[in-house]
Amino acid sequence: MEQTLVLVKGDGVRRRLIGEIVRRIEAKGLDIRAMQLMDVSRELAEEHYAEHREKPFFGELVDFITSTPVVAMRIEGEGAIAVVRRLMGSTNPAEAPPGTIRGDLALSLPDNLVHGSDSPESAQRELGLFFGGKI
Ligand code: PPS
Repeated sequence: MEQTLVLVKGDGVRRRLIGEIVRRIEAKGLDIRAMQLMDVSRELAEEHYAEHREKPFFGELVDFITSTPVVAMRIEGEGAIAVVRRLMGSTNPAEAPPGTIRGDLALSLPDNLVHGSDSPESAQRELGLFFGGKI
């Protein structure tokens, strides 16, 4: 069964949307295998977003994810990686369709509420970072 990492980012925690986001994931039929409210160190953030190091918004991304606690979840289910990405909606909330987490609940970057791994390789790497206790 496929597993993926989901983060409820700081804007979701601050806006008390943890329950709403978890509800949508569970209602879809996915299982939560692990869940923790945690601080993200700069080291963990830079490793997590390593592939975006050259992007102009890298600093903003790292500042955003380290500024407040996040909820990290290990989510499991058939096709969990793609299913979660569809539940989240497009990266830019302004373009995310109604019915998705970002489409219904968010308006603009960087406040897009959630992160979901984008491939099996990313999922394995990111689950190791957040639940493997390496950083
Ligand atoms: S890209 O350019 O297609 O690789 O970007 P993408 O994979 O969609 O997004 C990578 C992460 O960067 C966040 N992002 C941004 N943050 C701040 N400002 C801007 N303009 C911006 N564009 C993208 C995006 O939310 C992704 O973070 P996660 O946590 O993975 O959702």
